[in-house]
Amino acid sequence: MAGRIPDQFIDELLARTDLTDVVASRISLKKTGQNYSALCPFHNEKSPSFSLNPNKQFYYCFGCGAGGNAISFVMEHDHLDFVDAIETLAKDAGMEVPREQGAPDRYEQNAELLKRLSESSQFYQEQLIKSPQKTKATDYLSKERGLSGQIAKVFGLGFAPAGWDNLLKKIGTRAESQEQLLHGGMLIEKKDQPGHYYDRFRDRIIFPIRDSRGRVIAFGGRAFGDEKPKYLNSPETPVFQKSQELYGLFEAKQNTPTLEQIIVVEGYMDVIVLAQHGITNAVATLGTSVNSQHIRKLFKLVSKVILCFDGDKAGRSAAIRGLEAALPVMQDEKQVRFLFLPEGEDPDSLVRKEGKEAFNSRLEDASSLSHVLFDHARNQVTLGDEEGEAQFARNAMTMIQQIPKELTFRSVLIKQLSDQSGIDSDTLGNTATPKHRPSQPDVSGQQNQAPIEQATSHTHDYGYPPEYDDYDAYHGDDHTTHAPYETSQPRKFKKKSKFGNNNGQYNKFKEKELVFPPAPSSLSQIKQASLCLLLHPHIAKTIDLPDPLINQADDELQIFCKIWRYFSKYPKNNTGHLIGEITDTATTNAIYALLNHQDATTKQKIINANQEVLDMISTMENNLGLNSSIERLKSKGNESIKDNDSKQELRNLMDLIRRKKS
Ligand code: UTP
Ligand code: MN
Repeated sequence: MAGRIPDQFIDELLARTDLTDVVASRISLKKTGQNYSALCPFHNEKSPSFSLNPNKQFYYCFGCGAGGNAISFVMEHDHLDFVDAIETLAKDAGMEVPREQGAPDRYEQNAELLKRLSESSQFYQEQLIKSPQKTKATDYLSKERGLSGQIAKVFGLGFAPAGWDNLLKKIGTRAESQEQLLHGGMLIEKKDQPGHYYDRFRDRIIFPIRDSRGRVIAFGGRAFGDEKPKYLNSPETPVFQKSQELYGLFEAKQNTPTLEQIIVVEGYMDVIVLAQHGITNAVATLGTSVNSQHIRKLFKLVSKVILCFDGDKAGRSAAIRGLEAALPVMQDEKQVRFLFLPEGEDPDSLVRKEGKEAFNSRLEDASSLSHVLFDHARNQVTLGDEEGEAQFARNAMTMIQQIPKELTFRSVLIKQLSDQSGIDSDTLGNTATPKHRPSQPDVSGQQNQAPIEQATSHTHDYGYPPEYDDYDAYHGDDHTTHAPYETSQPRKFKKKSKFGNNNGQYNKFKEKELVFPPAPSSLSQIKQASLCLLLHPHIAKTIDLPDPLINQADDELQIFCKIWRYFSKYPKNNTGHLIGEITDTATTNAIYALLNHQDATTKQKIINANQEVLDMISTMENNLGLNSSIERLKSKGNESIKDNDSKQELRNLMDLIRRKKS
């Protein structure tokens, strides 16, 4: 990636560029007194409302509100991103664009925020020793969970005492640090007092989530009893994207003498308890199912990844998602294995019951990927005859085709399938069902994405709707439409059969097949949040909607606001009441559409609807902050950037634009 363009250069470029030339070379300008006017190039109009002030070096359109300086004009007019606009202007000015060595990564950009998170972690750890309420926490850890002080230390476990402002008072002493804590997800703004905050984590055991380099980027907080949610997690922030991180990876690297394989488990506690029993190479996803990025990341460190699933129904569907995540990122010389725990056990309970050796021998016996793949293909078969056998072959091939073409592993699986089904390899090549989604998710570029993009992006491996990746969704029990691994059909075929090229008959049972989860949801984050409110009206009253959001013209957001307003006012009412009360048909139709959407079933089950709505709000707020800053930037000419503060502000905003556009 090319280095960053130094701010000084941008200042100089703006100083040397005459906006009038830039604009006049693109549209026709007419002198009107001190200024110029023109038909606005950014919207359709018959009489000119575009005005350019040559002294102040800015333009503004009274019709559409477009405005800014030379850079923004070129960006918008020529449809260029920030860097290309600079290049264009520099070329015209006969200047060469210098580049700084190495672009600051998102950690450098968020250095202060990371400091606050690290201080927060420190604070929570100290509370285990200092807080007057500490016995509750230490008793829980040692007596109820059987953890040693030493292991608690390795994982930096802490305690957030009960109370609304323990962290706030300690770490958020300045306005600036409050702001950072807020961005880091540690504080929540008070509903009725904008600018006033309270602690997100209260009366919980704290699990700091570290990135693979050991920096604290988020927290999970466990309730002591049966309070909901059991685990409260940091929301997505500029430094934390739950679908990309693996809990315990840093600790595994630190504490395992030679890291040859990594076990992926489901829970924080599983990682810690395994480590206490000497199995230090376990990591956990953060309430999401394991995705291709996770596996790719682990393959960079080790050649064997063992995916470990609880012995319940949810665990088995999760395994299928693990299988699907693994296929496109498989490599020769690397293995993914699957460990299914006995019903009702998780690694935490099992290792305590059986000990390290027994757990290790389970790991050694973990099922191979091919075993799970063929088993799954078999379990999907609904017919008890030769057609069923063809169905099996197609199911298997559909999955095998997700494996990169060049791998020997792929050929080996095709050979195995050929042996099992009696269909020759060439025929098998034409056997698979069309895929429901792209086979090769391109996630490789994601690391380089701008933090803002990352924070708001809802792309997942395979483009699953987010809830496929979500803890609550996959721990719900509605998995009948996808990956029914557990609905094991009796194995009907022992005999091998030949089908030749009779592809025609495969179509007969096309509609019965559902090898993969349904097509990705197309619901936007706002619609998802609306759906959460519709299905869980009681959360509306716990949610605070900032004014700037309520005032947005966005249709989707308006509908969300309507639903929110109604249920905040009538928390006891249900969606039926709401529909009865709404008079405008557009809103009613939008609500019906949401309720009829495939996601409605999954959302019905989730228990963190609240968090999902809050995440949407914070995404919107981020976007809003950015957009309004850009608006302000646009209305600044060179005139206004003479003093240092404005210069700095302009730089920051330019940075934001740069990140947003790149
Ligand atoms: P589990 O419910 O399996 O819990 O959640 P656990 O790890 O066995 O926890 P203990 O033993 O009861 O303490 C597995 C993981 O799912 C996420 C967390 O990451 C948890 O570790 N999770 C669970 C949440 O994010 N929120 C919840 O409310 C529950
Ligand atoms: Mn557990």
